[in-house]
Amino acid sequence: MELRKSILFLIKLLAWYGLIRRTRSADEGSLCGLNGCQAVELARRYTDHTVAKMMRTIKPEALEEVFENMKKLQSLVRSVQDLERDVMSLFQPVWPVNGSPARWSMCAEGPCSCNMETRAVSCWRLELMLHVPRKQQIPVDTKILDLSMNRLKFLHKDSFNRLTQLIELDLSENDLQLMPNSLFYDLENLRHLKLHKNQLLYLTPDLFQDARSLRTIDISFNVLEALPEEIFKMLLNLYFLNLASNAITQIPDTIFSDLESLEDLDLSENRIKELPRQAFSNLIKMKVLNLGYNHLVRLPYGVFDQLSTLQILYLQNNKIESLPMGVFRDLIHLTFLDLTSNRISQIDYKDFLTLSNLRSLFLGQNQITNIHNKTFVGTPRLEKLYLFSNKIEEVELAAFSGLNNLAWLLINNNLLKLLPREIFKRTPSLLRLQIDSNKFMKLPEGILDELKMVEQVKLSMNPWHCDCFILYLTRWLIHNPDKIWDRQPKCRGPGDLGGKPVIDMTFNSVCDGQWASMTKIQGRV
Ligand SMILES: *[C@@H]1O[C@H](CO)[C@@H](O)[C@H](O)[C@H]1NC(C)=O
Repeated sequence: MELRKSILFLIKLLAWYGLIRRTRSADEGSLCGLNGCQAVELARRYTDHTVAKMMRTIKPEALEEVFENMKKLQSLVRSVQDLERDVMSLFQPVWPVNGSPARWSMCAEGPCSCNMETRAVSCWRLELMLHVPRKQQIPVDTKILDLSMNRLKFLHKDSFNRLTQLIELDLSENDLQLMPNSLFYDLENLRHLKLHKNQLLYLTPDLFQDARSLRTIDISFNVLEALPEEIFKMLLNLYFLNLASNAITQIPDTIFSDLESLEDLDLSENRIKELPRQAFSNLIKMKVLNLGYNHLVRLPYGVFDQLSTLQILYLQNNKIESLPMGVFRDLIHLTFLDLTSNRISQIDYKDFLTLSNLRSLFLGQNQITNIHNKTFVGTPRLEKLYLFSNKIEEVELAAFSGLNNLAWLLINNNLLKLLPREIFKRTPSLLRLQIDSNKFMKLPEGILDELKMVEQVKLSMNPWHCDCFILYLTRWLIHNPDKIWDRQPKCRGPGDLGGKPVIDMTFNSVCDGQWASMTKIQGRV
């Protein structure tokens, strides 16, 4: 009973708190009316104090209920704040939209700059704070309107009324917190909308419902946490959608299902943990999909099915632990796949079997331990293979078979001690090889001779053991001085030889006392 009373009291208090703040917003211009501000501060402190006191008097078993109610309270606070934003936007003045014959010369009176030729109005970087410039005349036939790089917080819902010929609207780099629902009501020809770098927390479901001509939308670098499922409905012409760098945690099941023209979707740098299995299933024109820098732990089975036009897929910097069977099977036009910095421990030829157009495959910074025979047999056009910073201990002899076009192989920073003597027979086009920062003490005689075209080789940061067997590497270094990239490999030992460049080793310095085993090498030195 006591709890119920407190909660009721709090609700009242919050309503009061909202009321003051709303009254304060009505007082347009002065953001923080003196009395209003103090009252808000008092109300805030009193709320905190009451909550703290209430918490102390509650029995543990009631605590759960309290938390439930706290959640409700939080959402109440939120809706009061939302209401406040709505009210704020209503108080914004609207500029006059001008249909008179002299509209472009009237427009030129400023403060924005107007170009009759291109029918462009630019209010770029005018330090606009609370609203669009009241004195500015906006010609009714404006095509391009630039309001970027100001400090706009709210827009009146009628700001763009009658601008039916508007094609481009740039509102980027402001402080916009809310887009009123009918803001784009008249913008039936709007094609390009820039909203990046604002403070948008959410979008109302109907925001774009009248702007059916939209081709590109950029809402990156805001603070969106969720997206309404209906938000992109009927945007049949949209081909570019950027939602990167927000705080989105979930993708509603059918949010993209109408976007049949979409070619480029950027969802990177959000907090997406899971993808709905059907998330992308209608996107028949997709070329670039960016899901990098999220919190994905797994990919649902079949999530990329039907994306047969996709060319570029970014999945780097997630927490993906394994690749579900056949997850990339429909991506027959994929040329670029980035899986860098995940937690993948196993890869298998079936994972890449149908990627016959793949040129670049990024698998660095994962937990891979082995590269099995024929892993890349499905990717004959592969040119760049990144396997650095894994835990690779073994590469099987036929691991790279089929990679006739491979130009770059980066397998540095792993745990390799040995490579099969004929490993590079299968990669005749290799130009750049990195095997530095592994555990190599030696290389099999002749292994590098297969690399007929190689231009750069990185061998440093291995514990090269400079006994008689190192002389093969020494000879190779002497004969290919311009191919050593970056640093000369150095001996780890034995004894005094530690720290000396491998290239300086001589028969006398390393084979001393090993005559018995030297009969083979002797003739070649
Ligand atoms: C890998 O392929 C090579 C050459 O074809 C073969 O000798 C070797 O046994 C294979 N390794 C495994 C584990 O199948």
